[in-house]
Order: sequence, then C-alpha cells, then structure tokens
Amino acid sequence: MALYARITGWGMSVPEKVLTNADLSNMVDTTDEWIRSVTGIKERRIASSEETTASMATEAALQALEVAQLHPDEIDLIVVSTSSPDYLFPATACLVQDRLGAMHAGAFDLMAACTGFIFALNLASQAIRSGSIKSAVVIGAETFSRLVNWKDRNTCILFGDGAGAFVLQASQEPAGVLSAVMRSDGSGSDLLSLPAGGSRNPASLASVTNGQHYIHMNGREVFRFASRVMVQATHEAVTAAHLTLDDIQLIIPHQANQRIIESAVRGLDVPLERCMINLDRYGNTGAASIPIAACEAVQQSRLKPGDKVVLVGFGAGLTWGAAVVEWSGLIPTKAKIRPTQVRLFAHLRSFLRRLLRHVEGWIWGRS
Ligand code: ACO
Repeated sequence: MALYARITGWGMSVPEKVLTNADLSNMVDTTDEWIRSVTGIKERRIASSEETTASMATEAALQALEVAQLHPDEIDLIVVSTSSPDYLFPATACLVQDRLGAMHAGAFDLMAACTGFIFALNLASQAIRSGSIKSAVVIGAETFSRLVNWKDRNTCILFGDGAGAFVLQASQEPAGVLSAVMRSDGSGSDLLSLPAGGSRNPASLASVTNGQHYIHMNGREVFRFASRVMVQATHEAVTAAHLTLDDIQLIIPHQANQRIIESAVRGLDVPLERCMINLDRYGNTGAASIPIAACEAVQQSRLKPGDKVVLVGFGAGLTWGAAVVEWSGLIPTKAKIRPTQVRLFAHLRSFLRRLLRHVEGWIWGRS
C-alpha cells in the first residue's frame, strides 16, 4: 500500500525585537518610502543576544510537535535548513535534537539557502514514503542579522530572523508533498554569497577588515533570476502533480521582495490574492520564510485541510524549487505534549548524558 508523508504539525518562532524602516533610516542612508516601494518590507525581527538559529528552530519545532501531538522520542529525523547555522559544525540540527530530547532521531543540516526548506521537505517526505522512517521534523531557521553588514544599505534593509517548522508523519491517506522540483545553477554562485569563513577563505585579519564575513549580493541579477525561476518551477511542480493552476488554492512564495512576487504572479496569470505575503512584517527570513508564511496562512484560515498549495522559492547557489503540497488535518491521537515538560526532560537528559560521558572518560583514563 502506498505511503504518504502527511504534514501534521506546524510552528514558528520569531524574535520579539522589531526593527522598523524608520529605525534603519537612522542607521544608513535610506528612507521608509524607498524600502517600502522597492521591496514591500516595513519591518523585520532581530534576534536578541540570547537567541540563535538553534534556539528559534527548537521553539518552532516544539510548537509543531504540540500541534501534531507527537512526542520527541517518536521523531526519526530532524533536518534544519539554514545558511546561518550556530556553527559550521556541529550541525544546528544536532543542537535542536538535544534540546528536544529526540533520542531516536538522526539530525543534519541542509544548505540550499532560501530554497532549503523546499529541498528538506522533499527529502524528508521521500524518506517517509520509502518506508525507511515514520516521522520527521523539517525546520527552516535563520539569524541573518548576524551576517548582515549594518552599514550596507543595499543588503541590511532586506533580511530578518526567525524559524518555521513542519512535522511530517507517515500516513496511508493521500496528502503531503505531491510533487517537487529541485534545481541549482552554481555558475551564479558569485551573485549571492558570504565570501569568507569557509575552507576557501578562512577567517583572517584581512577577511574581517575587508568585510568578507557579510552577505554580498548582486541585487539586480538575483531579482531577474528570481522572477524567471519562480514561474518556471511553479509550472513544473504543478504539472508533475498532474494538476493545473486552477486546482491550487494558495501559493506560498519565498518572501524576499513584493515586486518579485508580483512579477511571478503576473507570469503565472493568477490573482495576487492567491499568494500568501507577510514579508512586510518579517523581511527576508531565508529558509524560514516559507514555513513562517504557512503558519500564518493557517492562523488566518487561508490554508485548510484538503487545500492544494504551491511552495516556491529561490536563493543563493543559485538554487530554486517548488513543491505542490496537499494540506491535511491532524492525525487523531490521545497523546498530550507539553512544551515545558519536553524542554525540562530534554535538559535533564542532556545533563545526564554529559555527566555519563565524563564518568566514562574518567574510568577509561584510569584503566
Ligand atoms: N535606500 C535608498 N536607496 C538605495 C538603497 C536603500 N536602502 N539601496 C540601494 N539604493 C539605491 C542604489 O544605490 C541605487 O542608486 P543609484 O541608481 O544612484 O546607483 C538605486 O537605489 C537603485 O539600486 P538597485 O540596486 O538598482 O535597486 P533595485 O531596484 O534593483 O532594488 C533590491 C534593490 C531591493 C536589492 C532588489 O534588487 C532585490 O530585491 N533583489 C533581489 C534580492 C533578493 O531577493 N535577495 C535574497 C535572495 S534569497 C537568499 O538566498 C538569501
């Protein structure tokens, strides 16, 4: 019997601190009017010094687990899609696994920039559909505020911080990811990058002085590429799902720029109202933008069980992709997940495992 990967939980976490366009106009040579008219962004959220990609990812995942009523020890896989991980390694997903106390889960990061959530969703869905795992938590999370040059008006106005998560569970009822396209073109890798800090340009005094640890972007080229591939990927994914655009109730695009979304909508010949847009309040939150927009679409009753939705995005790499998803209701369960208890148990478990490792090291050292 065919297996499907039903989306049974969803959650989001954004920092409390709001940075408005007016605030930005006190930091760089820009205006609220310019930012609104060129990007559609009014404000974005900025992480506090205690918040990181892992902490926001954990909160989004906890919310999604609560919606799904799935206990962390039932999770088989955690994938975090991010371009702003806590560390180059270990994977941010492993930090999330520890904080959830997800003791049976494999965890890894997937980097495909702002398209990453679509890639991760597709891979987790395929793993469930193959029968190799039963459940997965897929997270998109970014702390771009730490990678942005706050003196560069070309980029600092665009980005924000946040995380969004889906829980996927095996089900025999057709739902979840119906089709997906994943595309890349590394010949455009120089258009959007963080040039230093990797093995090619390790951190040095020169790399810091030259501002190479910040996001560098050719905005115009990315704009042109994005407007083209959003249309192309949507058509490909809808056709692969044996549907037409008339069957699609909602399009959830990557939230980078209102004008890119409007151009894609014109290319697809669908009304703008069929698009979920919340970039005015969050800016570009990278891999988190699609799951955050999906959570708000559910809150606003724009996404209901049975709806077919297109998730479509683009990003550095270059990467782009789309997925057609059939939104589904919850799987009935008697379980009761309380995030406070999960957090406490995970914390205790982590402490005991560290202690055990310490004791083991001491015993081995003696022998
Ligand atoms: N305030 C005022 N003026 C500005 C600002 C600003 N914040 N930024 C740039 N300008 C000026 C420029 O200096 C330029 O002035 P000039 O003509 O005197 O040289 C003028 O405005 C126009 O600049 P452009 O860069 O040509 O403006 P454009 O219309 O292309 O808009 C933008 C810029 C918003 C960056 C747009 O190109 C864009 O959205 N591109 C896509 C970016 C994107 O989506 N990136 C994320 C990808 S996802 C990921 O992987 C992270």
